[in-house]
Amino acid sequence: MGSLPAPEAKKPINLLWGKPSPSLIPTDQMAVAAQKVFSNPTIAIAGMQYGDSPHAGYEPLRQRLSAYLCGFYGCPSDPSHLCITGGASQGLTVILQMLSDPIATKAVWMTAPCFFAARKVFEDGGLTGKLRGVNEFDDGSIDLKYLEREMAKLENQPKTNTACKPTAITQKSYTHLIYIVPTFSNPSGKTMPLACREALVSLARAHNALVISDDIYDMLQWPSTGNEFTSPISLSSISPIPRLIDIDHALPNHPSDPYGFRHTLSNGSFSKIVAPGVRTGWVDAAPALVRALAGCGATLAGGCPSQLVATMLAELMDHGWLEKHVRETLVPAYQRRRALMVEAVNRQLEGLGGGVAVINDGGPVGGYFVWVKLPERVKATDVARVAKEQEALVVSPGPLFGVAWDEQEMDLEGFLRLSFSYEDESNLTEGAMRLGNVVKNLLDTSDQMDSDSVNSRHLDSTGFGGKSDL
Ligand SMILES: Cc1ncc(COP(=O)(O)O)c(C=O)c1O
Repeated sequence: MGSLPAPEAKKPINLLWGKPSPSLIPTDQMAVAAQKVFSNPTIAIAGMQYGDSPHAGYEPLRQRLSAYLCGFYGCPSDPSHLCITGGASQGLTVILQMLSDPIATKAVWMTAPCFFAARKVFEDGGLTGKLRGVNEFDDGSIDLKYLEREMAKLENQPKTNTACKPTAITQKSYTHLIYIVPTFSNPSGKTMPLACREALVSLARAHNALVISDDIYDMLQWPSTGNEFTSPISLSSISPIPRLIDIDHALPNHPSDPYGFRHTLSNGSFSKIVAPGVRTGWVDAAPALVRALAGCGATLAGGCPSQLVATMLAELMDHGWLEKHVRETLVPAYQRRRALMVEAVNRQLEGLGGGVAVINDGGPVGGYFVWVKLPERVKATDVARVAKEQEALVVSPGPLFGVAWDEQEMDLEGFLRLSFSYEDESNLTEGAMRLGNVVKNLLDTSDQMDSDSVNSRHLDSTGFGGKSDL
């Protein structure tokens, strides 16, 4: 008797990756931009040299980026507010080098759930053991009462040591760092309302805190109409909520901040609007803070990061190509993908007591992720394990996004994060279907275990429980 043919392996589907679909990466346009750079010796040499001092980055890119941000956010266009970085993650390392201190900085407050990869950057910055979660509420605001109370507690502790980094007028050590992704957060997709942003800025000003606002999904937004799958967006209806820096900069300098570093910065990136491999981003902040970042030792020694790519991005931004790419290619594609995923996940899970947690009907939606509430009795870590083993489906379980298990942190076992940015549309629907199967099976198993335990309790009460021959 011949052996049975092996069951056909399922094609892998990855709903964990927060990267763009290959179909949305503008390789042709980048090739044209590179060609333009190398056909102009002045630009080519600028890109192939150490950049000019002060090392805030390739000037034409700062100028075009500044005009773009001004058009998008309605803020003043001023390149002195911009420092080019090697992307938001590399930018964060420089922020920590120049604006925090392993001793003088008492805590890093992170929205819980948080973007998990940021945790390691803070730990590498000498802040291990100082990460604290601040719960995010359903409306995207965070628990400011808790934050204020706990910040004050730390400030009231007796001083033990002095700072280990030099204090100079070009550098500063904030007492607290507050890391947030206020718009289309990773992982929850929530957006912090204006009132919470304003309150957070005043809290930061009062407590010598720096809010590191990771704004990398801001440009990928569209108004939720409930049926964006069929109706294209009206671009005129997009008006972004003010960033935290826009709120901060509209206020006078705080008396405790004589050099004008301010208390917020916006960490931006080309990763989600061009491609992650360009490894280029920016920090938008007060000029004093920009000078601090540009004065980082590695930058002084080696120039601004991503100098050559910066010349290509400047070409790409010429004549408004990037705005058009975001508006006409990326936003419609992500809008459609998100609508498809929301619809498919809800079709699978709503009848079971789960579904997409953040819909924000009528408000802006965007980014790369949807946050899914699981039915009670099903744990995210079980779903992720079984999905991988049985359905070749990779999803991110809620606990991956915990900050640290302290009193404040919510239980994240009831949630999953699903990315709609990478897989093609048919895989998004197929992935949701496989997820539905996994959840149904886990619920069936749980029902079965409940009924077995009722039976065994019944048997126990009849005196036969536990006998191996029954
Ligand atoms: C919230 C957030 N910040 C930062 C990053 C990484 O940005 P970059 O590629 O610019 O380092 C990501 C990538 O997924 C992200 O989701």
